[in-house]
Amino acid sequence: MSENEIDATALAAKQALIAGYGIGAHVAGMIHLGLELGLYGALRESGPATSEELAVGIGLHERWLREWLYQQATARVLDYDTVTKRFSISPEVWVLLGDPDELRTQRANFAGLTYRFAMLDRVPESFRTGIGIPWDDRGPRAAEMTELLFRNWYRHVLVPVALPMLDGVVAALRVGARVADVGCGAGLAMIEMAKAFPSSRFDGYDSSLQAIERGRAHVREAGVSNVTFHDANRDLLPDGPSFDLVTTFDCLHDMTHPHEAAAAIRRAIKPEGTWFIADINGGADFEENLGKRPLSALFYAISVMSCMSSALSEEGGAGYGTLGLPEPEMRKLAQSAGFSRFRRVDLTHPVNAFYEART
Ligand SMILES: C[S@@+](CC[C@H](N)C(=O)[O-])C[C@H]1O[C@@H](n2cnc3c(N)ncnc32)[C@H](O)[C@@H]1O
Repeated sequence: MSENEIDATALAAKQALIAGYGIGAHVAGMIHLGLELGLYGALRESGPATSEELAVGIGLHERWLREWLYQQATARVLDYDTVTKRFSISPEVWVLLGDPDELRTQRANFAGLTYRFAMLDRVPESFRTGIGIPWDDRGPRAAEMTELLFRNWYRHVLVPVALPMLDGVVAALRVGARVADVGCGAGLAMIEMAKAFPSSRFDGYDSSLQAIERGRAHVREAGVSNVTFHDANRDLLPDGPSFDLVTTFDCLHDMTHPHEAAAAIRRAIKPEGTWFIADINGGADFEENLGKRPLSALFYAISVMSCMSSALSEEGGAGYGTLGLPEPEMRKLAQSAGFSRFRRVDLTHPVNAFYEART
């Protein structure tokens, strides 16, 4: 390549773009540290503080805190007052990074950073072999971090807003329904439903034993007795109409065999039953996703490190990946499994689309 081929304006633009990604990755690492060490909460509690004041309050070494505070202020995550020489966290940043129960929180993106980025050392081998890394082979943090993605939606939206949008589901749950949550992870959706509908029974199926172990602990903490977990590697859905409601939240695109899963769900659902699906709200194809930047760039990255890797974690895996099951594909998947009615549920969510499938 000769220097003559380079357009100076285009170079400057790409330089700014790529430098921004490099900076973003490092700032993200520092946000991860802030979450890990509880620094946003400590600053919120203390109010505007110097590094010395924060260090006394939280019992950490001042010099380390000072460097982190300098980093966060220069990244404009935290505020710095040049008159009082104190750092503070704005209410807006508290919403996005501080409050763990806030629906608008972005904590999951940063909290899960180290487990996801650890995959970067392993996926080069997947590029050679074609085979990805199953969920349980990613260390204990995978299940812990995954449950943060949807946790607050389950707590704040699932029972009061989402379920009433499905045809007849709440009435059935009140009376006493049988529910299967397939790809249930640590069971947080089931726990919210189990608390709200004590007459119903909930069976969670997941192939991650680490997630199931966490789920059983959450169930004990929540004190609910109507939730049971099943190891999906051995314990398959019943082969006959058993469930009034089946849910699959953010997991079909992760599965090696989602068509088989959909067919098993069809067999296990009662004739008037409902399949409630949440999956990533991608564009219909790659070219549509190109127009949905920069979120698509994030999703394709997560796909390589996590979702597609899971969906290719055994020979012959379908490999849909994070953006692989948008509405048209999901409709086909449901129809080919034998569901004759399929509609999008009008729920607004920054990442996911929701569907109701009936037999
Ligand atoms: C992104 S997580 C979502 C978990 C859960 N629904 C939630 O919202 O927290 C995807 C889950 O799918 C599970 N999974 C992948 N393949 C599966 C399969 N064939 N059967 C059951 N679960 C599967 C993974 O173990 C993981 O827990």
